[in-house]
Amino acid sequence: MDVSEAIKNRRSVRAYKPEPVPEEKLRKVLEAARLAPSAHNAQERKFIVVRDEEIRKKLAEAAGQGFVGEAPVVIVAVSLNPEDIMSSGVPAFAVDLAIAVDHMTLQAVEEGLGTCWIGAFSQEKVKEILKVPAQYKVVALLPLGFPADKPALKSRKSFEEIICFEE
Ligand SMILES: Cc1cc2nc3c(=O)[nH]c(=O)nc-3n(C[C@H](O)[C@H](O)[C@H](O)COP(=O)(O)O)c2cc1C
Repeated sequence: MDVSEAIKNRRSVRAYKPEPVPEEKLRKVLEAARLAPSAHNAQERKFIVVRDEEIRKKLAEAAGQGFVGEAPVVIVAVSLNPEDIMSSGVPAFAVDLAIAVDHMTLQAVEEGLGTCWIGAFSQEKVKEILKVPAQYKVVALLPLGFPADKPALKSRKSFEEIICFEE
């Protein structure tokens, strides 16, 4: 599968089959995060792989989104340096983690797996469940598993609406 195909086929998947994610596929998804670029190549990030059902259910509760716990794997993306602001005024940590998580969503498509970026969750509860140190920031939860359905393509603004040239 080429990158364009993966981009076109990615969907937010909110229903997963219970079957486990083969180790080799999981490894490829995690490797995609490892290879992602970051500001100053600082790579101030960690990814917690949660397979334990009880912990997954707790994470789902912390997000108030039950389907999160139904995926056989939840990958939790953590910034180790959430204070890092670039000279542009943009926080580097959110950008760094977004790129890594997006790499994983695309690699997952290639592996026949589904994902859904979860940005709505209790920071405090997730940190407590996973014993994440207070100074770090959990950026996203990423359920991962074989899709139980094929979500329709969501609408997007037109090319003309979002692209400007020269100014
Ligand atoms: C930063 C961010 C946070 C998101 N948070 C959630 C979330 O908490 N729960 C959820 O079900 N989907 C979440 N989504 C998924 C979006 O709803 C989804 O990407 C959007 O509706 C477009 O659909 P698509 O991903 O299938 O193209 C999030 C996506 C992004 C990029």
